[in-house]
Amino acid sequence: MTENWIAPSILSADFARLGEEVDNVLAAGADVVHFDVMDNHFVPNLTIGPLVCDALRKHGVTAPIDVHLMIEPVDRIIPDFAKAGASYITFHPEGSVHIDRTLQLIKDNGCKAGLVFNPGTPLHHLDYVMDKLDMILLMSVNPGFGGQSFIPSALDKLREVRKRIDESGYDIRLEIDGGVKVDNIRDIKAAGADTFVAGSAIFGKPDYKQVIDDMRAEIAK
Ligand code: DX5
Ligand code: ZN
Repeated sequence: MTENWIAPSILSADFARLGEEVDNVLAAGADVVHFDVMDNHFVPNLTIGPLVCDALRKHGVTAPIDVHLMIEPVDRIIPDFAKAGASYITFHPEGSVHIDRTLQLIKDNGCKAGLVFNPGTPLHHLDYVMDKLDMILLMSVNPGFGGQSFIPSALDKLREVRKRIDESGYDIRLEIDGGVKVDNIRDIKAAGADTFVAGSAIFGKPDYKQVIDDMRAEIAK
């Protein structure tokens, strides 16, 4: 069975102390660092790029870095993120004209590849590329900002994707991103997710370990 991963989104971290924040959240029990890349074009916000990913690796971060590209176009930046130490690279189908080519480009650069679906984006983009996917990321908010509320229709979408993954027989992680909290993570897990991004729920509290422990206790129920 796939291990459940808690993936803190550093979008809600204190960027002035990013290395320390990532160290603290990993020491608190996080499995993977969720790294949100925004371009002020695909989404109305601007964040961080390969330089910051590279800086985290140089700082000594060895945990997987899960790079979520909310940018358009995507292909140009993929080799840079691979060189900067990205483990997973996920992108939105709207950000790539040739999604099969982009998935292959990510893999050719030695990273694990994934597709991201906005709340309103249909799942037909999964057709014909399941064999190239290591991760499917479902957005449970419209991308661009931390601290938004979970959109309930994401639960039905999770169940649908869980079924597709199980029927495919491929080893694909099912990640959820947006509005994940201690009080809804159990329902999200029950709907089929195995990788849980949480930004404000973790970095918004003084005791990261307490939140991560509480989340694990909920998904173990
Ligand atoms: C939103 C980002 C998320 C965000 C999640 O566009 O992709 O990763 O940081 O933040 P919370 O957990 O606060 O909804
Ligand atoms: Zn994200």
